[in-house]
Amino acid sequence: MFTTTWTAPSNIAFIKYWGKKGPQLPANPSLSMSLQECVTKTQLEVTEHDEFTVEVLFNEKPSEVLTKKLFDYIKSIPDLDISKKKFKITTSNTFPHGTGIASSASGMAALALCLAEYHKSLSASEFDIEFFKEASSWARLGSGSACRSVFGGFNTWGECGESDRSDLFATPLSVHPSFKKLKDSILVIDDQEKKVSSTAGHGEMKNHLFSAARFESAKKHFSRMVSALKSGDMEEVGTLLEKEALELHGMMMTSPHPYILLKPNTLAAIELVQDFRIQTKIPLFFTLDAGPNLHLIYLDTHTSKVETFIQHELLPLAKKVIHDVCGEGPRKC
Ligand code: PMV
Repeated sequence: MFTTTWTAPSNIAFIKYWGKKGPQLPANPSLSMSLQECVTKTQLEVTEHDEFTVEVLFNEKPSEVLTKKLFDYIKSIPDLDISKKKFKITTSNTFPHGTGIASSASGMAALALCLAEYHKSLSASEFDIEFFKEASSWARLGSGSACRSVFGGFNTWGECGESDRSDLFATPLSVHPSFKKLKDSILVIDDQEKKVSSTAGHGEMKNHLFSAARFESAKKHFSRMVSALKSGDMEEVGTLLEKEALELHGMMMTSPHPYILLKPNTLAAIELVQDFRIQTKIPLFFTLDAGPNLHLIYLDTHTSKVETFIQHELLPLAKKVIHDVCGEGPRKC
């Protein structure tokens, strides 16, 4: 019997992956920050069995939906010995269900790390960059953005003219020391299931009137974001964060089948954030995932003033806030 357990973080995209090509490959390079508090913990047990079988326990309860999804996923992984094996997966998230934080990135990353360890049957000293690259490319097959969750700190995914950056797996990016503890306070404005899935959203980019312009813009934002993260230019990072968030939602609103995921309180909170920035000169910026919840990004040196602002001005517009920070990445338990 083989058994292992990994935790992996959720990540927030600074440059958004929106639109794909081929086998889960990105139409443009993306860049994200891994979180510290929002993580998935997954245990994998592999035993001999009559036939390939998958059993999934989510929050200690059997999940039929996940069992079906992960059966297909594990089968799709190249080179993995699955014949006459049972894969028992026991998984849970540290962030409560219904916070609007997608668990697919952290979940697929944690599982891919377990599977990559099973594949290689490595000892701890052999968890080198090649191991993480393989885990990243396997996580990608489950959910594109998950490939960036097999590392801590900042990571890029997608070709951008630099030889060490690939469409197949994510690559860590070293950044200015002032960003090592960058904060992300997640303002949960709405916790309902999304009306349109990310998979459908990516699909809309295939026949989108503005897709070529979006992919060009994302590439330009990507190289500017890399430079700003390296030089420590928070104003530039923040300007790009907000542009990316609004372009992402602009794409949704101008899709062949248009849709809106923003809520009135998302817009109200955005106005308050921008007013706060003008009045206090504190560089507080927002970004958005494919949903209505605001990710508030700021330097740790401003924590006290920003948290007070969130508590008094923004929380009345939201269900709750989760204070998170740039994280160290996955951990083998
Ligand atoms: O990985 P997916 O298919 O869930 O798509 C993620 C899309 C965004 O979260 C909106 C952007 C990103 O790069 O994470």
